[in-house]
Amino acid sequence: MASETPLQKVKADLERYAASEGKGVSFLLALRMFLVTPGFQFVFSRRLQEMAVRIPVIGRPLRRVIWWASCLVFGSEIAMAAEVGGGLYVPHPYGIVVGSARIGHNMHLLQNVTIGRKSREEPGDPVFGDDVTVSAGAVLLGSITIGDGAVIGANSVVLKDVPAHAIAIGIPARIIPAAAPKAAAGADPLTAPAL
Ligand SMILES: CC(C)(COP(=O)(O)OP(=O)(O)OC[C@H]1O[C@@H](n2cnc3c(N)ncnc32)[C@H](O)[C@@H]1OP(=O)(O)O)[C@@H](O)C(=O)NCCC(=O)NCCS
Repeated sequence: MASETPLQKVKADLERYAASEGKGVSFLLALRMFLVTPGFQFVFSRRLQEMAVRIPVIGRPLRRVIWWASCLVFGSEIAMAAEVGGGLYVPHPYGIVVGSARIGHNMHLLQNVTIGRKSREEPGDPVFGDDVTVSAGAVLLGSITIGDGAVIGANSVVLKDVPAHAIAIGIPARIIPAAAPKAAAGADPLTAPAL
C-alpha cells in the first residue's frame, strides 16, 4: 500500500467504480465520476489530499483545506492520518467517520459507518486487509484486525478481530466463518448510471 502513488490509487478507484456497474473505465464513465458522482468525488477529495501533502511548504495546509471542504460538502470524513489503499468504493458518502485506521485495497464502505478508537484510555486503530465490505451503519472500534474479504453486516458493532472471508453481524458482532463473495459482487442497485 505504501508504494502506491495517489495517481495509481485514483486509477484503482475509477476501476472499482466502473466494476460496480459491471463496466470498464471509459472516457464517459470517468467524466460522469468526476462531475456528478458524489461517492467518487468524496474518494477523489481524499486522493487530492494525498497529492497536496507532497507539495513542499504549502502541501500540509493545502491538504487541511481540502479535508475541511470535503467534510463540509459530504458530511463525512476520513482522518488525514488514515492510510487508505486504492480501489476505495463509497457509493453513498454520508455520515462516515474514519479515524486514523489502516485500510487495504478495494474497501467497500457504506453510509453512516464509524471506524476509530474505542476510548481515550485505549488508543489503537482498526487495521483492514484487502477487499473488505463495511455495511451501512457499522461501528468498528479499537485495535482490531479485519481480514481480507471480510464482510461487516449492517449496524454491527465490531470490537474484536474478524478472520479473512468471515461475516461479522450483530452487537457485539459475532463471526460467521463463511465465504461471502455475494456481498461485494454485481452492480450496486442504488448507484445506477446517470448517463
Ligand atoms: C451481513 C450480510 C451481508 C449477510 O448477508 P447474508 O450472507 O445473505 O446473510 P443472511 O441474510 O443469510 O443472514 C444470516 C443470519 O444473519 C442474520 N443477519 C444478517 N444480517 C444481519 C445484520 N446486519 N445484523 C444482525 N443479524 C444479521 C440473519 O437474520 C440470519 O440469522 P438467522 O440465521 O438467525 O436467520 C447482510 O445481511 C448485510 O448486513 N448487508 C448489508 C448491506 C447494506 O449495508 N446495504 C446498504 C445498501 S445502501
